[in-house]
Amino acid sequence: MRRPLIAGNWKMNQDNREAIELARQLKVKLAGLDGVDLLVCPPATALASVCEILGGSAVAVGAQNLHDRRSGAFTGEISGAMIRSTGADWVLIGHSERRQFFGDDEDWIARKLLAAFECEIHPVLCIGETLAEREAGQLETVLRRQLLQPLENLGEDQLAKIIVAYEPVWAIGTGVVATPQQAQDAHALVRGLFASRAGQAAADRLRILYGGSVKPDNAGELLSCPDIDGALVGGASLDAASFQGIAAAATN
Ligand code: 13P
Repeated sequence: MRRPLIAGNWKMNQDNREAIELARQLKVKLAGLDGVDLLVCPPATALASVCEILGGSAVAVGAQNLHDRRSGAFTGEISGAMIRSTGADWVLIGHSERRQFFGDDEDWIARKLLAAFECEIHPVLCIGETLAEREAGQLETVLRRQLLQPLENLGEDQLAKIIVAYEPVWAIGTGVVATPQQAQDAHALVRGLFASRAGQAAADRLRILYGGSVKPDNAGELLSCPDIDGALVGGASLDAASFQGIAAAATN
């Protein structure tokens, strides 16, 4: 009953020319895939060009981050309104690389979520524990904090629109993918935590994506887990054939 979503996070890759080429390839390769929602998140410099190519296709376009203010003296930042002006209407919020390198904490992430909703941008809230946290038995504590604190000020309508990506930090870019059981257990935990805030019906509708070394050859097994509703793909989303392979696995 939950339609799968396969999202690509291009991170700080693809200059404008490369992004245009990749978007053109994706437009061809992903055409005609039924039963799956598709999203790509290029760097901000390529949003407008990618939107121009993918506009009218089934592939949505999103940014990788936004600032919570609409405009002002925030050198180097981009606002939700600016993202919308490129044609993109999705955004990743709280990616672990933002948390690790750029100081995104729960307070700021909460404000970014509200800012996204104000601009009618669909947010994907990214959460996930480090290896040290997992090994110290803190999985639930970490996921509870990262998920529930930013949701505190959201209304029912907003909670119904949110998408969550569970990305264990130890599986990102490492080639070490969580086992289907580890991923399923974490996703069930996230759904339970969300139910405690938004109610069971909303939790049953919540789409939870898995991220961390997803490739065409492991996607099928991960996506067949009952609480895994899609994937947030880094490295493999930079290759049109690989991304298509993952998206195709979601239609099975
Ligand atoms: P990789 O697929 O490269 O591990 O990256 C995952 C990720 O961080 C997606 O947001």
